[in-house]
Amino acid sequence: MTWTTEEIAGLVEPDRAHRKAYTDPDIFDMEMERIFERTWIYVGHESQVKKRGDYYLAQVGRQPVIMIRGQDNQVNVLYNRCPHRGAQICSARKGNTGKHFYCSYHAWTFHLDGKLEGMPAKREYEGTNLDFDDPEFHMARPAQVDNYRGFWFVNLSKGGHDLKTHLGEAAAAFDQLIDRAPGKETEIVGDCFRMVQQSNWKIFLENQLDASHPGVTHESTGKAAQKLEAKIRQEGEEPPMELSFLSDFARLGHDGWTKFGTVGYRNGHSSLEGYMGLRPDDPDTNEYVRRMHEAYGEKKAEEILGTNIHHMLVYPCNSVQPPLQQLRTIRPLAHDKTLTEIWHFRLKNAPEKIYRRSLAYYYMVNSPSTLINADDLFNWWKCQHGLDSSASEWVSFHRKAGQDEERDGVSYSAPESMSELPLRHMMHAWREYMTATVGEKL
Ligand code: FES
Ligand SMILES: [Fe+2]
Repeated sequence: MTWTTEEIAGLVEPDRAHRKAYTDPDIFDMEMERIFERTWIYVGHESQVKKRGDYYLAQVGRQPVIMIRGQDNQVNVLYNRCPHRGAQICSARKGNTGKHFYCSYHAWTFHLDGKLEGMPAKREYEGTNLDFDDPEFHMARPAQVDNYRGFWFVNLSKGGHDLKTHLGEAAAAFDQLIDRAPGKETEIVGDCFRMVQQSNWKIFLENQLDASHPGVTHESTGKAAQKLEAKIRQEGEEPPMELSFLSDFARLGHDGWTKFGTVGYRNGHSSLEGYMGLRPDDPDTNEYVRRMHEAYGEKKAEEILGTNIHHMLVYPCNSVQPPLQQLRTIRPLAHDKTLTEIWHFRLKNAPEKIYRRSLAYYYMVNSPSTLINADDLFNWWKCQHGLDSSASEWVSFHRKAGQDEERDGVSYSAPESMSELPLRHMMHAWREYMTATVGEKL
C-alpha cells in the first residue's frame, strides 16, 4: 500500500503507536529511505582497520559499504560495488585487500580511495567514453562520511545536520567508551557476535531501555543464578561476581528497577541512567580507579567515572553500554527481520581483571547463547507475531505518559517510575523522520 505523509503521521499518537509501523513491508521500505538512508548511520570503529589495506564490510540502510584504511593511513568508506558491471568488490566480511581493490569478475583494479587504477587490455577502451578521472568509473563514496573520535558513520544523503550536531548529547556514550580508559584509547576486541532476530528493528530498540521487563522476562534466569549462589555459599565459598550479573535480574525487584531514570534527547536518542555505573568496592576496581586518577587527575577522573549513563540509544542504529564496554549495531533486514552486531571494547591500560569482568558480562548477558538473550528473543518474536493480529490496532506506551518532565528540549522520566518515556520518545522521532521534517526540525 502507498502511504501518504498524513497517514504515516497518524500511526503515532502521544501514548501509542499503530501496529502497522511494525508489520507493513512498505513502511519498512520508507524507513530505509527516510531514516536509514537519510541520517547518520554507524559503520564501525577505526580499530577494526588498523593497517593500510584493512577493510570491514557493513550495511547502511539497503546499501553495502566498505570501511577501508587507505595508503595515506586515513579511514574511508566506499560503496561495495564495482562501477564496471556492478559486482561487489569485497565478499569476505573483513580482511586486507593489499595496495588496491581487485574485482574478481573482470579484474578492474582500484586505488584504496576508490579511483579506477586499471584493467586488463586497457587499450580496448581507447576511443570510448570511459574516463579514468570520471567518478562514474570510481568506487563511489557515500554522500557524507565522518567520524566522532574514531567511531565512523556515513550519511547516504546530502544535507541535514553534521555528525556532531546529529549526535548531540548522545556523543557522551562514545566519549565514555574512550575516556574510561586510563590509557585514553579504546579498541575493538576480536570480532562481534551477530544475531538475526525475527522481529522489527524498533522492537529491539524499545526493549533496550525498558526497565519494566527485566524483572519479569529474566526473573527465572535470575532466580536460578540466586540458587546457585546460595549453594556455593553453603559449601563455604564466595560465589564469583559474574553470577551476580544474572542474579541481579531477580534481586532488584520492582522498587529496584524504578530507581533508574530515562532521558530523551534531541534527534531520537535516549539513555538509561545508573544501574551498572555503580562502583563496587573491591581491589580490582580500586586499582582501576587509581590508574584513572593517575592518568587524568582526581577531579577529571571522577567526572568521567561519575557520568550517569548505563545505556545510550543512538537513534536509529546503536545501543551503547559504556560501563560494560559494549556497543550494539542495528541493521534492519526486513520489516520482521533484524541483524544486530554486538561489539566489545578493551580499555587501554585498564587492569586485566576489569577487562575480564566486562567480558564476562558480554558473554553471560548479551551473547547469543545466554538465557537472558534467549528470553528476550522469544518475546520479540512473539510481539512481531502478535502484532500481525488485528485483535487491536495499537501498541500501548501509556506508562507514566504525560507525567515526564521536559527541560530545554530534553525529556526526563517521572521519578521513581518505569516510565515508557524512551518508547514514546523514539516513536515521536520516528514520525518526524518519516514525515521528512527531520532536516529542519530535529
Ligand atoms: S564487474 Fe567488476 S570488473 Fe567487471
Ligand atoms: Fe531483556
